[in-house]
Amino acid sequence: MKKIAVLTSGGDAPGMNAAIRAVVRAAVYYNIEIVGITRGFAGLIKGELIEMEASTVGDIVHKGGTMLKTARSEEFKTEEGRKKAYEILRENGVEGLVVIGGDGSFAGAQKLSEMGINTIGIPGTIDNDLAYTEYTIGFDTAVNTVLDAVTKIRDTSSSHEKATIIEVMGRNCGDIALHAGLAGGAESIILPEAQLGIEDIAKKLKQGKERGKLHHIIMLAEGSGIASQLQEEILEKAGVNARVTVLGFIQRGGDPTSFDRIIASKMGVNAVELLLKNESNKVVGIKDNKIFNMDITEALNMKKPFDNHMYKLTEILSV
Ligand code: F6P
Repeated sequence: MKKIAVLTSGGDAPGMNAAIRAVVRAAVYYNIEIVGITRGFAGLIKGELIEMEASTVGDIVHKGGTMLKTARSEEFKTEEGRKKAYEILRENGVEGLVVIGGDGSFAGAQKLSEMGINTIGIPGTIDNDLAYTEYTIGFDTAVNTVLDAVTKIRDTSSSHEKATIIEVMGRNCGDIALHAGLAGGAESIILPEAQLGIEDIAKKLKQGKERGKLHHIIMLAEGSGIASQLQEEILEKAGVNARVTVLGFIQRGGDPTSFDRIIASKMGVNAVELLLKNESNKVVGIKDNKIFNMDITEALNMKKPFDNHMYKLTEILSV
């Protein structure tokens, strides 16, 4: 393997820069040429390749976002689009590609691997929705960003003795809501994996009031509903006028936590080492604090188990 490339694709996630840095520096360390592709698969189709060296990735380990930019490409989903991408890589002598992104990006990597480009995926998404790995890069930072917001909202909720619905990201996965909800002491947590009925929320609101609670934080994962609708239902069924905060894109930004920087660094180096061993169609993950890799197809077919124990904890702790 003489020349490899790296790209970020899909929604950005804090720690992607640390992963790019690790890929580039590992390539330099192992004496292979490295190019960056800007704007993900969309940029690849347009031939947006930039030469990279150790200094290109200086001063980015601590920064959110992705220096390579990112995009969601419809064209790459077509056979014609992928053919263009394949030809660009071949014309430029790129034999291996590291794709940093989520499941859609991995599906793209899998297709390129079938066409003969060695590909390795690194999980970069705030959603933590990939079943094969315990953590994805960006999740820890997003949870801490949400937690910071919950802590601040809790102050004003207590002062005004109000219930607050906080809607968070995660697509169809409730991990951001569950983790930030547990850490932030939310009273009710509504997840795609565990839909709490309006009656349960009303009961909790009543219980809380009776025992003198000043606030009631309701964490709502975006995959299980819309905050404004829930607000109406709560007013109708429980007679409580809850406030709403939709955290939105603030969750995708910010300096990555040490955890995200560390897993990004480990995964980036591991991805390059796999390419050096001529491996392809693999994804890198972390389990029990150990970096491992597995077949992309197998990883994409896995179903993410729901952490029932953690959910139960939130119930116990919010009595
Ligand atoms: O996958 C990351 C994520 O931030 C999800 O949590 C959210 O549903 C989605 O991306 C938003 O996507 P877009 O950037 O296309 O609006």
